[in-house]
Amino acid sequence: MGIIKVSHLKPEALLSEDVKDRNGRLLIPAGTILTETHIRVIKIWGIVEVEIEDASETDPDSSSAEAIDPEQLQAAETLLQERFLFCDREHPAIAELFRIGRQRLAAQMAKSPPGKRPSQTTSGGRRSSGRGRSGRTAESCEDRFSHIHQLIQKDIKLTTLPAVFKRINETIMNPNSSSREIADLISADTGLSARLLKLVNSVFYGYPSQIDSLSQAVSIVGTNQLSVLAFGIDIVGQFKRISSRDIDMESFWRHSIACGVIARLLASTRNIQNTERLFVAGILHDIGRLIIYHYTPRYATDILEMAGESGKLLRDGEEEYLGGDHSRIGALLLQIWKLPQSLENAVRHHHNPSDSQSILEPAIVHVADIAALALGTGSSGDTHVPPLDPAAWKQLGLSVNGLEPIATQAERQMNEIFQFFCQ
Ligand SMILES: [Fe+2]
Ligand SMILES: [Fe+2]
Repeated sequence: MGIIKVSHLKPEALLSEDVKDRNGRLLIPAGTILTETHIRVIKIWGIVEVEIEDASETDPDSSSAEAIDPEQLQAAETLLQERFLFCDREHPAIAELFRIGRQRLAAQMAKSPPGKRPSQTTSGGRRSSGRGRSGRTAESCEDRFSHIHQLIQKDIKLTTLPAVFKRINETIMNPNSSSREIADLISADTGLSARLLKLVNSVFYGYPSQIDSLSQAVSIVGTNQLSVLAFGIDIVGQFKRISSRDIDMESFWRHSIACGVIARLLASTRNIQNTERLFVAGILHDIGRLIIYHYTPRYATDILEMAGESGKLLRDGEEEYLGGDHSRIGALLLQIWKLPQSLENAVRHHHNPSDSQSILEPAIVHVADIAALALGTGSSGDTHVPPLDPAAWKQLGLSVNGLEPIATQAERQMNEIFQFFCQ
């Protein structure tokens, strides 16, 4: 008797525990010999593990590992050990993410020709500039931080969101406004509405039939959700033009989008209504780093080199150099934009969710960030997976067996969403 992942379930298995949905409603009673139909029902209900007799007959790693050469697995393990240096690998969620990351990396290595193997070791999306350190000045951390703050406030383009968002916000806040009015407002911006419709018709939503009009999209996706998505699309549109001499921007956006996609999937396991808010929080979580890279490249060079030389986490290097890390800078920007408090809170506390008064949303972005880095989908400059806050993991109420289906679904959505935002 034991618990196994639904993805490893085979017909003829004998259930030893009732299978219930999230609300505790009985779906299939203990004692049932499972058929293909039962397994399909279990998957449709989003259940990730069940208890069966003779679970020992099912090797939990067999279906994914059998095709991979043990030597590739060993090589992937060696690469990932460095990446997980700051993580407690005894924690079940980290152990599972390490296992999933190793499987994915070994499979990628097997597909790549020798000499073109994916490297997940130390670059973290950073460019090797060949420059020496910029030469430190006598500035204090506080001076540097307030310099960044001033730069953000001075840049009109950065501090002003398009007028359409102000009107959308006002309309949402007004209890008498209708979804028709929101649809009309967004429709007035033809570029934005075309992009929203494209996203709503993508694999992200997976609706069986085509959604042709914005009013249809508003009624299916929801007013708040669509507005948050519109914010996200516009902000990425503005920021993707930003370049940096220190960081590979494609890698930055891959990481940000992976974090957003995973955060949205994690949020759906908690039955959060507006999962789009978590998607956008995930996309924006490291936006503070983009500000440092673009507006103060001298600081960025110093921080990246300091962290590289001392083998520290990049965030600790930021804290030491600026007296505050990228999450504080990102939250500052979101505050200036007057984005919803919950979004700002998720960005501000994505590395320290336990410090937040409202832990759930920062906890979701925190775990999504770690999962995105563990899966090797880009980086915002980190060469290491940041440590997991165990309280944040607990908040999610997710079984470790739920991580692999989420990783698989995220990978399915990632490419299309990345193309959508970055091309
Ligand atoms: Fe971060
Ligand atoms: Fe991140």
